[in-house]
Amino acid sequence: MSETLTPTPLSSRLRAETAAQHQQLDDEITARNLFGSAQGYRDFVRLQYRFHRDLDPVYRNPQLAAFIPDLQSRNRFTHITQDMADLGLDAPVQDTRHGPEFFASLPTQTAIGWLYVAEGSKLGANILDKLAQNLGYSATFGARHLAPDPAGRGPSWLAFKNMLDDTAIDPDACIHGARDAFAHMARYLAGP
Ligand code: HEM
Repeated sequence: MSETLTPTPLSSRLRAETAAQHQQLDDEITARNLFGSAQGYRDFVRLQYRFHRDLDPVYRNPQLAAFIPDLQSRNRFTHITQDMADLGLDAPVQDTRHGPEFFASLPTQTAIGWLYVAEGSKLGANILDKLAQNLGYSATFGARHLAPDPAGRGPSWLAFKNMLDDTAIDPDACIHGARDAFAHMARYLAGP
């Protein structure tokens, strides 16, 4: 009897191959107690701002919208900009090596890996949103970017995951992008 080997879905590979990086970020954010005080939360929002400012050109890329039709409405950059204003925070200087040109010219398959990290982080945001609410922030003040997408967290993630698994995407390029995205976030967390 012959067995048919089913290839591992790309979404499962992305999860497995970035699990250690995700755990490190989670551990670091927890160790720094970023959700333990208003000051910690301000550092977290600054961090999120830097990451989402970088990804803004990716969410606006029409080539990527061919893969994810509602891509623009998934972009949280406007929300996080409003959170920064709510908290009275100034925009940090942008990393010149990773400016808008770098992100606008990412190869499509690699850019999908970056989007995996940004979209997947909306799942963990379910927990973070509750912690932010304990500090007095909400979907209308200070924690706008942690609120679910209009479609809801579950359906929004499922649609993205189905796109990953049902589209011909080069897994190596995509995983490479996701690993770079986690490393990028880790650098911001470690950096000045
Ligand atoms: C303390 C901080 C964090 C916590 C507690 C946390 C927690 C979680 C949890 C519980 C899930 C799984 C949810 C589920 O399966 O329903 C998840 C998924 C995910 N998170 Fe985080 N997260 C944190 C920070 C981050 C950050 C900073 C990023 C990236 C910038 C990130 C990226 C992701 C990704 C990509 C997934 C999807 C994993 C998958 O493929 O299923 N997380 N997070």
